[in-house]
Amino acid sequence: MNPAARAAEEFHRMHGHAPTGVWSAPGRVNLIGEHTDYNDGLVLPFALPFRIAVAAAPRPDGLLAVTTVGDDGQPQRAAPVAVADLSPGSVTGWAAYPSGVCWVLRSQGLSGGAELVIAGNVPAGAGLSSSHALQCATALALLGLAGTELDAAGAPSRTEVAAWVQRSENGFVGVPTGLLDQTASLCCVAAHALFLDLASGHAEQIPLDAAGHGLAVLVMDTRVRHSHADSGYRDRRSGCERAASLLGVPSLRSVGPDRLAGLDLPPELLRLVRHVVTENERVRQVVELLRTGRLPDIGPALTESHTSLAADYRVSCPELDEAVAAALGTGALGARMTGGGFGGSAIALVRADDVAEVGAAVTARFARRGFGAPRLFTTVPSAGAGRDS
Ligand code: GLA
Repeated sequence: MNPAARAAEEFHRMHGHAPTGVWSAPGRVNLIGEHTDYNDGLVLPFALPFRIAVAAAPRPDGLLAVTTVGDDGQPQRAAPVAVADLSPGSVTGWAAYPSGVCWVLRSQGLSGGAELVIAGNVPAGAGLSSSHALQCATALALLGLAGTELDAAGAPSRTEVAAWVQRSENGFVGVPTGLLDQTASLCCVAAHALFLDLASGHAEQIPLDAAGHGLAVLVMDTRVRHSHADSGYRDRRSGCERAASLLGVPSLRSVGPDRLAGLDLPPELLRLVRHVVTENERVRQVVELLRTGRLPDIGPALTESHTSLAADYRVSCPELDEAVAAALGTGALGARMTGGGFGGSAIALVRADDVAEVGAAVTARFARRGFGAPRLFTTVPSAGAGRDS
């Protein structure tokens, strides 16, 4: 059963009536452009076919009540909270994500209570943005209950909603992530990757048809769980901000590749800057190749991105490195970690005929190294967030 149907069914089971509506949002893979978003840089994500759905109805008592249906089918209900009382720190754990969205939308004049039932199939902690899918679906549900549907006349734009979701994550959940994931979840469309320039706001849908080239995108979830609440992400981000301030620029986006050789920075900051600057160039290169129908040629840029993230940015881990090495060793055209790193997933661009062989090589390599078995699947660019029923 798909997440929207599951959420609706569970809502009905709990409350004895249908929800007012069901909204859902996808997780994402970032094809390239990692740790560039909070540096006003370039990213190229696409939406996964996995989604988080929120079945919702208004509550007249001003409370926000949230239930999530776990993988085991068991509902877990967070203690209801008064929307008027929501403040950073007032809700912790998984319920902080939907509560934070409710908190941020209060400042947009949405203060009514709501009953939310959540179901989804985005793997959690796999670096595929399950938490952002949850936040985006919650935003759509709360807006929908207030009579505002995305894309309708007078509705906020998808990028405006993404900015609210980011504010809720930064300000309420307390995780300093950039805008990549929320924007991907809200703005991606099927069969395309989203080329986004965080400095100008320019967004462009770039056709991405691996099957049309006899290729496939293989996702390799290492099952090493990561969390952006850990200090690694925060440290990289503040390192970039420190480097920008030492260089006297508003963000690292202002540093062109021609300046790299002459930068006077401590070595640990120089490494961060080198990654961000070269990664932006790789995004440009991949976008140009995709625009001109040369998908098979993007492989080297993907692999260089991984090397840069591992050696310079230092956000990889042995499992991600092994997944990438095993895929490349079995003929993948390119491979890289995707998302924030420190665990989570890698992706590989492989010939469709080689998917089974590459997958077997990755699994065998993990077993040899004594790692737990990875989860492997191929995927295609899928639809962004919307209303299901
Ligand atoms: C996480 C964050 C994003 C982005 C990536 C790294 O997914 O949520 O904002 O910084 O890491 O590219």
